[in-house]
Amino acid sequence: MRPAIDTTKPSPARMYDYFLGGKDNYQVDRDAAQIVLKDAPEAKDVAVVNRRFLKRATWYATKNRGVRQFLDLGSGLPTQENVHEVAQADAPNACVVYVDNDPSVLLHSKGLIVNNDRTGYVQADIRTPAEIITSPVTQRLIDFNNPVAVMLVSVLHFIPDADDPYGIVKDLMDQVPSGSLLILSHVTTDNISPVVAERIQQQQLAVPLNLRSGMDIQRFFHGLDLVDPGCVFLEQWAPGEILPVDETAPLKLRCGVAVKP
Ligand SMILES: C[S@@+](CC[C@H](N)C(=O)[O-])C[C@H]1O[C@@H](n2cnc3c(N)ncnc32)[C@H](O)[C@@H]1O
Repeated sequence: MRPAIDTTKPSPARMYDYFLGGKDNYQVDRDAAQIVLKDAPEAKDVAVVNRRFLKRATWYATKNRGVRQFLDLGSGLPTQENVHEVAQADAPNACVVYVDNDPSVLLHSKGLIVNNDRTGYVQADIRTPAEIITSPVTQRLIDFNNPVAVMLVSVLHFIPDADDPYGIVKDLMDQVPSGSLLILSHVTTDNISPVVAERIQQQQLAVPLNLRSGMDIQRFFHGLDLVDPGCVFLEQWAPGEILPVDETAPLKLRCGVAVKP
């Protein structure tokens, strides 16, 4: 049996929903989000900009690379312009598997995949790539002989070094063929003072944040060909299309898209 939804602890998925202006969150999530906003008032703008990156990178996959399969890992609660909506608007035959370990996401994702036989949902932890790959839903929708966009957007900072986030990315990318993409964003320490970084990491969030430097984020792309403009701040990935965030704001995400050679 799947675990029940816990409304006594803040959930990253529901806090993110709150930052995006969604309604699928509880008081405990809003209270925790307010603590983040005290140190980083730009968190709401950053969430919106992160969604812009996710949309822009999905377009890049369909339009520039002809990718028709998406594994959206740590997909979050359904919001506007979900990956299948963006991809299928351009390529109606695109298939998308959403994966998240939060039972709240499962509850809200059910409605999303009704009437769409090219979209599926797997409740799983990204720390168990084999479970995700061998799931009947994934096996039905994804052909691992053809390129896949592996999306890890704003999720790897929930994985501590002790759980080998680099090994997770490698295991996933080992499963997909040449021409596949890694689409990734990650909270970085690059713009943040050590004091604020420490305060953010010390918060009693349900899942603690693991901030990483730009260099450490770039390491996720090891062995892959990073496409221009490289591993950059979100708003630099598609300048003009992704809204600028206050350059001095401490909370920043780095992002990038890379092709498996
Ligand atoms: C900040 S949200 C990002 C949602 C979406 N990818 C985006 O960028 O808009 C992070 C999501 O990752 C999920 N998550 C965190 N740790 C996870 C794990 N170990 N396995 C699967 N999902 C995880 C959370 O439940 C949450 O829904």
